[in-house]
Amino acid sequence: MEWHKIFERHSLILVLGIVVVISIGGIVEIAPLFYLESTIEEVEGVRPYTPLEQAGRDIYIREGCYLCHSQMIRPLRDEVERYGHYSLAAESMYDHPFQWGSRRIGPDLARVGGKYSDEWHRDHLADPQSVVPESIMPGYPFMAGRDLNFRQAANALSALRMTGVPYTDAMIENAARDLQAQTDPYSDYADGLQERYPGATARDFDGNPERISELDALVAYLQVLGTMVDFDTYVPEDNQR
Ligand code: HEC
Repeated sequence: MEWHKIFERHSLILVLGIVVVISIGGIVEIAPLFYLESTIEEVEGVRPYTPLEQAGRDIYIREGCYLCHSQMIRPLRDEVERYGHYSLAAESMYDHPFQWGSRRIGPDLARVGGKYSDEWHRDHLADPQSVVPESIMPGYPFMAGRDLNFRQAANALSALRMTGVPYTDAMIENAARDLQAQTDPYSDYADGLQERYPGATARDFDGNPERISELDALVAYLQVLGTMVDFDTYVPEDNQR
């Protein structure tokens, strides 16, 4: 171990040695990523958000819901037992910005879609303590009374297209119409919505057919979270061969 003395006696050489060793470790980890076509495994069922869901997502961000709620179920037993199948990368591939979050003052919301009725969400958002007495979540009673501003719906989709979300020209052109169609189960445009966003459910999310409110959008968003992948038929890519 004579040569080791060189490192022990000259701090600069030691630093250089450390840099060399760490770089090798870094290259081994990073270089393969450049040769992979995609680091996100494609999963059936994942589609871009409808204009209404996307508007709800913007409200979620505007109101800072992410400060108390995460949207990522980690592959740990207690998480999976409480929230359901752990989150797949593909499930947030169209999320810009993603909402994984790092704080859980409230529960994870990655699979809250379908867990409660629309009515429950309406009551809960207006006054959380009315359904969960010990809740410390603040209420958002104003949302039901605020018209959703969707003049920018098409712009929101084109902006997302720039980040790589595969919104087509038809989706962007029909954004406002699709948004309206999703709040009305009897809409004449329901077929177009289904064609462009397979599996999207159209209904009156805020319980008030008179207006399209911010509550419509937020509930539509909450109800789609974690529901796009069918875990009864999902097989991880590694097991497909
Ligand atoms: C101050 C922290 C806080 C903020 C901000 C907050 N929440 Fe909550 N949330 C909670 C807590 C705590 C609970 C658990 C008790 C309850 O159900 O009310 C909860 C529960 C929930 C649930 C039920 C989850 C489940 O699986 O039972 C939903 C849905 C929800 N919040 C949505 C939202 C939305 C949407 C927003 C933003 C408009 C929001 N929360 C903002 C703290 C927060």
